[in-house]
Amino acid sequence: MKILFVCLGNICRSPAAEGVFLSLLEKEGVSKNFVVDSAGTSAHHAGEPADARMRKHALKRGIELRSISRQFNPDEDFERFDLILAMDEINAQDMMDEAPDAQAKAKIKTMVSYCKKHKVPRVPDPYYGGPEGFETVLDILEDACWELLAEIKKKSY
Ligand code: 4NP
Repeated sequence: MKILFVCLGNICRSPAAEGVFLSLLEKEGVSKNFVVDSAGTSAHHAGEPADARMRKHALKRGIELRSISRQFNPDEDFERFDLILAMDEINAQDMMDEAPDAQAKAKIKTMVSYCKKHKVPRVPDPYYGGPEGFETVLDILEDACWELLAEIKKKSY
């Protein structure tokens, strides 16, 4: 199964989602069944590694973020990925607007729709806030990633 995580800049939330999910796949011994990537709806940070603050907070949980920011590419990504997970509703809408057909639109879901413990409307953007924002992002992502993998296993992809 091929999964793409998407936020605005691809330097905070979606690289963290990618790292949390990859780490979970490794722990569960199922990495070989997945292709995982992340992207940003904006090209503003393209070519940059994940934000140093996000990397530091992820590393405290044993997760190394190695992704380099790239812009979401509707011409390739709708074709290449089975599931496209938006960190917030603006990211989801921006991709919906670029989707070529209903099949592409159906691949877009919000990350928080998988959360079990966190009843939140979105993965909040931590970029302009303090350290606690990065911890909150990771807490939400860990919750969502567990449930995402559980759901995929149930459907036995
Ligand atoms: P992300 O966070 O979408 O989670 O990567 C942001 C990164 C950069 C900016 C905004 C959000 N920015 O305005 O540059």
